[in-house]
Amino acid sequence: MANLFAGVGTSHVPGIGAAVDHDKTQLPYWKPLFDGYGPAREWMEREKPDVVIIVYNDHASAFSLELIPTFAMGVAAEFQPADEGYGPRQVPVVEGHPELAWHICESLIMDEFDMTIANKMPVDHGLTVPLSIMCGQPEAWPCKVIPLAVNVIQYPQPRGSRCFALGKAIRAAVDSFDEDLKVAVWGTGGMSHQLQGERAGFVNEPFDTAFLNDLTADKERLINIGHTEYMREAGSEGAELVMWLIMLGALDKDAKEVYRHYHVPASNTAAGLIILENP
Ligand code: DHB
Ligand code: FE
Repeated sequence: MANLFAGVGTSHVPGIGAAVDHDKTQLPYWKPLFDGYGPAREWMEREKPDVVIIVYNDHASAFSLELIPTFAMGVAAEFQPADEGYGPRQVPVVEGHPELAWHICESLIMDEFDMTIANKMPVDHGLTVPLSIMCGQPEAWPCKVIPLAVNVIQYPQPRGSRCFALGKAIRAAVDSFDEDLKVAVWGTGGMSHQLQGERAGFVNEPFDTAFLNDLTADKERLINIGHTEYMREAGSEGAELVMWLIMLGALDKDAKEVYRHYHVPASNTAAGLIILENP
């Protein structure tokens, strides 16, 4: 059977991808951030997941305000890096896992989560930057990827509690897939950041630290953080953190933290990374 063994939470700042693509990771500005990614890359190389479900938000690349799916799962065999205005990133094509993705969609919809099913979905920095963070610059990505796009761009976004419940349902779906596969879930986005308005550049380190702590210490508190609290405490884009709760919901209750890295600033953002493993 498929085994969902671990979760990763990570920021997906586009500048991090640009630093990788333009060979700037060893410059004084970026080095402390990338030094902290080293152990996460070693973990990835050691654990070799077959499939990673990457929970991310599309930033008006595959979708626009014409079409705003709350939860869209990619079931295609491959996903092209999106052109975000300056040409697609020169990174490998993202290979999907259609059989598992369709199985998860079926299970979720029977479980009353009304998923949007995407047969074509160019993937932007929200998905490719986490791959660069965890895998560096390989010829081909070392795992299959099932993209799960969540609307955190346009109000009304899904609540954290709904995201957590979706994670639980994803776990049940993976558990019932009849093939020996090692599966991980990554939640991306955050941590605290605000890209616009009077508080542009806002970062709240105590909020982020408490969020990282409570992924293991107090899930109930995290699940109940509302949109207004995210905006006030984590900036206007801080609500991206609800995507980490999908990852959290898919893990065992007593999943353990095995690695953490937190660094400010990465572009306008507090960059966080955490790895959680089921016992
Ligand atoms: C930036 C953009 C993002 O989508 C994000 O999640 C964090 C930072 C940026 O432009 O700096
Ligand atoms: Fe983002």
